[in-house]
Amino acid sequence: MNYLKFNESELDDELKEKSIKEVRQVCLGCKSCDLAQTRRNVVFSDGKAGAPIMLIGEAPGADEDATGIPFVGKAGKLLTSLISDVGLSRENDFYICNTVKCRPPENRVPTDEEKCICERFLNAQINIVRPKVIILCGATSAKSFLGNDIKITQIRGKWFKLFNSLDAVVIFHPSYLLRNRSEEENSPIWLTKQDLIAVKNFIGK
Ligand code: URA
Repeated sequence: MNYLKFNESELDDELKEKSIKEVRQVCLGCKSCDLAQTRRNVVFSDGKAGAPIMLIGEAPGADEDATGIPFVGKAGKLLTSLISDVGLSRENDFYICNTVKCRPPENRVPTDEEKCICERFLNAQINIVRPKVIILCGATSAKSFLGNDIKITQIRGKWFKLFNSLDAVVIFHPSYLLRNRSEEENSPIWLTKQDLIAVKNFIGK
């Protein structure tokens, strides 16, 4: 698909927070697709707009829909603990959002149409936050940027330049990790920790 756009201007942290707040307000009122009929809350983002790492997931699940905060359910808790296991801080180092801001019924994968309709919000988030690195978390997120033909097992751990400018790495989605709990060397959880360590090194922490 690779439909996202990118512009080149830089904002300071205060202006980033202000701009993100404005985009959030617009997003909270969005009724551009049918997901608006079934959502309880729009799940816009969590974390600081000036954070060095932006993590982009798929779409909110039930817990996120109930709270309005991304990655707070079982998968989110696992993600948060992996982040702290490698010495990063979800609160200070991450700006977290999803490709689609409203929960698809029964947690189905968002359609390409829903992703396209929601694209303007993700686009604005990337342009404002301008992180040092983007983590594409799971297949849906990776496909939004790298095309629908990618295979997550083939590209996880690989680094890409998005928009010829932004560094990005693909990691497994924590829902997949919940179904594969081994922590042995080369297990999905072990590989994900290696990916997060690479991110940590990349931002110089
Ligand atoms: N899965 C996602 O991709 N995003 C969330 O916010 C929660 C679960």
